[in-house]
Amino acid sequence: MILTVEEGEIDMISKSGIRVVAVSDYEELSREAARRIIAAVRQHPASVLGLATGSTPEGTYRELVRDHREKGTSYQQVTTFNLDEYVGLAANDPHSYHAYMEQHLFRHLDIPRGQTHLPDGTAEEPEVECRRYEEMIREAGGIDLQVLGIGVNGHIGFNEPGTPFSSETQVVQLAESTRQANQIHFEDPEQVPTHAITMGMATILRSRGILLLASGAKKAPVIQRLLTEAEITPDLPASILRSHEDVTLIADQEALSLVGTDLD
Ligand code: F6R
Repeated sequence: MILTVEEGEIDMISKSGIRVVAVSDYEELSREAARRIIAAVRQHPASVLGLATGSTPEGTYRELVRDHREKGTSYQQVTTFNLDEYVGLAANDPHSYHAYMEQHLFRHLDIPRGQTHLPDGTAEEPEVECRRYEEMIREAGGIDLQVLGIGVNGHIGFNEPGTPFSSETQVVQLAESTRQANQIHFEDPEQVPTHAITMGMATILRSRGILLLASGAKKAPVIQRLLTEAEITPDLPASILRSHEDVTLIADQEALSLVGTDLD
C-alpha cells in the first residue's frame, strides 16, 4: 500500500490499483468530489463529463452549484452524458433522471441544454436509441471524467452482475436489489421501473478518468469486495475498474468501515 497524506486526507493506492481518498463523512465526500470536478472544468472548459444520479452525488451537485454561484465556474462549454435513464419515463416525469438532473444541477448552472444528454427512456425503438447515444458520446470525443456511484451489488451505471465487460449502451432489466434501493425515490414501490437504458461497461471504461463515490454503511460490504477481492469478474461489475488506469474512489468512513486502512 502506498500511503500519502494530501491536504489532510488519506490518499492510498490500494492493491486493487484503485486510488482511495478516505474522507470522514458525506459532506466531505461531496466537497472533495466537487473540488475535483471543478478543477477538471477549470483546466479544460470544454470538458466532457459523465454524470450519475442517485442519492450519492446529490451533495456533490449542491457543491458544484454553490461554487458556480460564488466563484463563477462556467459550464458554458461543458458537455455532459448521464449514465442512465429509466425505460418508460418521459423527461418531464418527476421520477425520471432527466428531472433529477434538471432539479439538482442543470437549471442552476450556465450549461446550454443542448450540451446535456441522457438516454431517452421513451424512445420507440430503444435499441436504436442506445446506438444513437453511444454514437453521440463518440462524436463528443469520449468522456473526460466519469462520475460513478456503486450499487450494493457492485453495479455501475445499471450494469447489473453478469453484464459482459464488452457491453455498450443497452437496455437492461434492473436487479430486484436495485429496484428496492431506488424505492425511496417513488411513492409506490410498484412504480419503480423494471428496465433502464444504461451506458455499457465498455462505454464507461473508455472514460479517461473515473471518480467513484461511495457513502454510508450500506456500501461497506461492496467496497470491501471491490478493494480486497482479487478477482475481476462480471459478478462484481465494479471490479473491472481495477483494470482502468485512472480511477479514484472517494469513500467515507462508513463505506470504508470493513476495510479500514488495511488495504494490503
Ligand atoms: C445512477 C446509477 C447507479 C447509482 C447506484 C448507487 O445513475 O447509475 O449506478 O450510482 O445505484 O445509487 P445511490 O447513490 O442512490 O446509492
